[in-house]
Order: sequence, then structure tokens, then C-alpha cells
Amino acid sequence: MNPLSVFGKRRRERARDTAGAERHTVTAGEVDVSHGPILYLENITVSFDGFKALNELTLYIDDGELRCIIGPNGAGKTTMMDVITGKTRPDSGTAFFGQIMDLTRMSEYEIASAGIGRKFQKPTVFPQHTVFENLELAMRADKRVWPTLVARLSGEQRARIDEVLEIVMLMAQRDLRAAELSHGQKQWMEIGMLLMQDPRVLLVDEPIAGMTHQETERTAELLTSLAGKHSVVVVEHDMAFVRSIARKVTVLHEGHVLAEGNMDEVQNHPAVIDVYLGA
Ligand SMILES: Nc1ncnc2c1ncn2[C@@H]1O[C@H](COP(=O)(O)OP(=O)(O)OP(=O)(O)O)[C@@H](O)[C@H]1O
Ligand SMILES: [Mg+2]
Repeated sequence: MNPLSVFGKRRRERARDTAGAERHTVTAGEVDVSHGPILYLENITVSFDGFKALNELTLYIDDGELRCIIGPNGAGKTTMMDVITGKTRPDSGTAFFGQIMDLTRMSEYEIASAGIGRKFQKPTVFPQHTVFENLELAMRADKRVWPTLVARLSGEQRARIDEVLEIVMLMAQRDLRAAELSHGQKQWMEIGMLLMQDPRVLLVDEPIAGMTHQETERTAELLTSLAGKHSVVVVEHDMAFVRSIARKVTVLHEGHVLAEGNMDEVQNHPAVIDVYLGA
């Protein structure tokens, strides 16, 4: 018997226990990862006009892992992220963040506040503000620090912004306007803005699109360095890039998992070879 189905049962029982009573207020830091995974997607189906973008998708992401998701165009990769972030509601199936938080019953805002950050392909930055100010605004957008909205930054908050600038390799660009950054630097700044909210899970969809070779290499180092403290889920088509960061790789095809394993295992998997070369 799959041990995960036992987790699933306990989790559902607990979810039932907490449902109904006063609404559970979720705050970051209380994600129950005692069984290992931080994200549980089970039998998720999403239909658009009868077409199943996700078809009984079951996928688990471990706490602190770096997972690469690959698959041909239309496989359902972005839709999977839409389900995790609450943008799209599944027709059926369950999606949990840790043991207790039912993502299908939380708003997009609640999911983001609970600690799931998503980086979009097109960065949503404030071009006329400096890099430092962009990170500051991201921090102030976090309602948990709402009382400090009009206050001056504390020393601790400044230190945190500098720490994140260091992580995303933008310390030297700290006082540049965001508009002056290169394409790759803008992407890193947006990752920095997400980090200001201290997410447990980071979802990044096609992070290296449009980047130079050097920016691509540095992005690989950045994403690798974030794993451990955060769980990082990366969707990317560039196989050389995926190989450079891959630990466990999941191949999606027609809305479900075709293969899972390390890079060599999935690349040598007959079904994967069929899908990529048979098309
Ligand atoms: N809002 C929508 N309405 C109708 N169809 C949709 C919608 N969103 C996605 N789809 C369809 O669902 C399927 C999966 O799309 P999705 O964007 O998840 O694929 P993907 O794996 O991210 O592909 P790509 O690699 O091209 O980004 C596609 O056939 C797509 O056309
Ligand atoms: Mg996509």
C-alpha cells in the first residue's frame, strides 16, 4: 500500500475536524510538513470546455526540495501552478499545502500570505523606483507588517532587504532604478520581491526565457541556493538548464505525470522519448 495514501486519509480527517468552526486564519510558518511533503496534489482534474488540461494529476513536492517540471507545450504545467496558487479551481481532486491547508478552499491572497510565492514570466516591478525600493515595497505589501506601512524602516528591515539583495546578486544595483536593469536582473529582482515575503514554496515558470548565457548560469546558482530553505518548483523547456539544476524531475504530458526521477532516468524513459521524439 502506498504510504502516502495513509497521509492523505489523516489529512482529510483533520481538514474535516477544522472545517465548519470559525475560519482558520493562516499565517506563514505554521505549515505542517511532518510527513515530508509540503505540497500534495491528488487526482486533480481541470477542464476547459470539456478539454482536460489536467487529468487526474497526482504530484507531491517535498519540503525544501528543488523540483523541475518539464513537458511539451500544453502539457498542463502552467495550469498546475494556477491550481496551486488558487487562480484556477480544479473540477475534482485535492490540493493541500502541508497537512492541513486545503488550497482549493483558500483565496489567491490567502495562499500567497500562507507562504506560496509565484514568479510570473513578465515581472511586475515598479520601473521608476530603485531596486532597494522595489524590495521595500514588496515587504510593505505583506499585510503581516501592515502597521509599519507609514513607519520608517527599522534596522532589522533594512538588513533583511540587504540580505535579499545579496542573495539575488543585485547589491551593486541597489540604487539603480528598476527600469535600468537588464532583462535578467529584472527577473532576479522579482525573485527578491517574492523572497521579502519569506515564502515556503516558490513557483517559477520558465525563469530563463530571454536571458543571456551568463544570466542563465547565475539563475541556476540562485535557484539552487534557494532550495533547502524554500521548496522550489521550476517549470522550464531548456533541457541544458534543467540538467544543470535538476535533482528530481517530473515529466507532465496531457495533464498527468508521464515519468519522474533524476534527469538520466526521465530522459531514457521510453514514454518520454516517445512524447518528445515521436511528435
Ligand atoms: N483559461 C484557459 N481556457 C482554455 N484553455 C486553456 C486555458 N488555460 C490553459 N488552457 C489549455 O490547457 C492546456 C494546458 O495549458 P498550460 O498552459 O497549462 O500548458 P503548459 O504545459 O504550461 O504549456 P507551455 O509549455 O506551452 O507553457 C493547453 O491546451 C491550453 O490551451
Ligand atoms: Mg506554460
